Amino acid sequence: MELRLPDGRRAHIQVPEGRHILECARDAGVELPSLCEQGWCCTCAVRVLSGRVDQSASRRFYEADRAAGFALICTGSPRSELVLLTHQLEAMRAFRIGANLPVPRGPTLAQP
Ligand code: FES
Repeated sequence: MELRLPDGRRAHIQVPEGRHILECARDAGVELPSLCEQGWCCTCAVRVLSGRVDQSASRRFYEADRAAGFALICTGSPRSELVLLTHQLEAMRAFRIGANLPVPRGPTLAQP
């Protein structure tokens, strides 16, 4: 699968069955934002440019999030070939506010 970072870099990583995207990105040397790593804070949010992500391990992920093109990679596993745009916390927050869905509280999170 392919990760596209906001600075234009691209990383190609392998995510074996049963593993989550974030941990495999780390294993490949790609540092991405994360906090709870349980699928509720949205710090690890990405945009799904193509493919499908299994979010069944995420604590708070809505079908509306999926329909809007978001995924949480800390608890997400590929269900197809994927292309993901990383660092989408603020976009996902804005979407949740507009959709009247719960928005994680807390300090603004630094994104490496
Ligand atoms: S790190 Fe909190 S939802 Fe992924």
